[in-house]
Amino acid sequence: MIIENQAGVTDAVTEAFGRTENPRLREILLALVRHLHGFVRETRLTEREFQDAVRIIATLGQKTTPSHNEVVLMAGSLGVSALVCLLNNGNGGQSETQANMLGPFWRDDQPLSESGDTLERSPTPGPKLLVHAGVADSEGRPVAGAEVDVWHSSPEGLYENQDPSQAPMNLRGRFVTDKDGRFHFRSVRPSGYPIPIDGPVGDLVRATRRHHYRPAHLHFMIYKPGYKTMVSQIYAPDDEHIDSDVQFGVTRALIGDYVRHDDLSAEHGFAAPWYSLDQPFVIERGEARRPIAPIRSKAGAA
Ligand SMILES: [Fe+2]
Repeated sequence: MIIENQAGVTDAVTEAFGRTENPRLREILLALVRHLHGFVRETRLTEREFQDAVRIIATLGQKTTPSHNEVVLMAGSLGVSALVCLLNNGNGGQSETQANMLGPFWRDDQPLSESGDTLERSPTPGPKLLVHAGVADSEGRPVAGAEVDVWHSSPEGLYENQDPSQAPMNLRGRFVTDKDGRFHFRSVRPSGYPIPIDGPVGDLVRATRRHHYRPAHLHFMIYKPGYKTMVSQIYAPDDEHIDSDVQFGVTRALIGDYVRHDDLSAEHGFAAPWYSLDQPFVIERGEARRPIAPIRSKAGAA
């Protein structure tokens, strides 16, 4: 097809992509062209703005390393991660779900831990945290033998991969639920943290006059064949950024009941104050599949 004018560009691309053999890929490509060309028309994108957009997208890739993923951070900052998550969980977005976005910090090689273990692999100052968790199916039956990854930031707001002062795999572990679908662990209370703003995500945050903090949370991933792998985050309600998460991750179903204790715990050797959380999870039947890990190592490591 010889293109006659601006409208003809869309016709030409649509016709060309319409020959895509894979039906799902064809559907996605045709919708992409429809929306992308529509976006260019609606905004009357200038040549200069287009050049800026190309530079921004290239920078997202260039800033992505084995220990940092700027693309995932941008997807979260645009609300796309949250939208994809909520459309694909809770019976296709029809009912409440504890699913949440993966974020950029999960590692696929988190060490297997015994129930009751601590996630502290190097001394980590801050209030202690005791977490009990249970996994059940949608009929309320306990799910035994589920692998549950847990990872979170330090009380200073840094994941181990961002912080040379933390031992490798600090505040990360992988637990297996017992016959009652339960496990527990000790750790330190995570704090909210700033997302990196030295790249395109920072430019977006500043341009939209937002702060760049996530409220304090624990990350969980529950994996068992026969069930849809659930990625979740449980947020602390007393965090000042609970209703303005820069990554748009907080939903009502994900606000945890973190309890503050002002007496020392002789049983666990915790000084006051310390925190506890008893968190139930409900997982859906479906396909078990761990995602592709957004990072592979600590900063500066191979
Ligand atoms: Fe996080």
